[in-house]
Amino acid sequence: MSSYIFQIQSLIILALLFYGVIHRKNRFKHIKIMKTAIIWDLLLVAQIEITRNALHKASKVVSNPVMLNIHVSLAISTVLLYGLIFYTGSKLKNGNEKIRSKHRTLGFVTLTMRVLTFITSNLI
Ligand code: HEM
Repeated sequence: MSSYIFQIQSLIILALLFYGVIHRKNRFKHIKIMKTAIIWDLLLVAQIEITRNALHKASKVVSNPVMLNIHVSLAISTVLLYGLIFYTGSKLKNGNEKIRSKHRTLGFVTLTMRVLTFITSNLI
């Protein structure tokens, strides 16, 4: 039951991230949407950890332990990328145009990682 609620949140967060990229030219809107999505995603990880869902799944005989490792690695990478995208986004907001292409590339990588995290969560 709780994993169903997590999945719905995960899908909404993904939709928010894509919505925010669509509105990347609208600085104010883009930043507001991305901050909301990132904070919500971190809260989702906290919820999963608090309910021990992740640990529980890891300690049980999982059907695909290799996929579990891949999934956890992707999830950790995504959180680290959130830090980087936040950093480059803040610099861009403060007028550092040189960092724009880095922010764009990081945006693409972060989104890809987040989609793969979602896909692999269903394959464990
Ligand atoms: C996963 C999160 C994010 C993704 C995928 C993302 C992606 C993008 C992309 C693709 C652009 C367009 C760059 C271009 O083609 O010139 C952009 C622009 C921008 N982003 Fe982000 N971004 C994210 C989060 C953030 C955050 C957290 C901030 C601020 C704290 C931020 C601040 C900006 C700013 C200021 C621009 C320039 C907007 C303009 O042209 O006026 N972004 N972002």
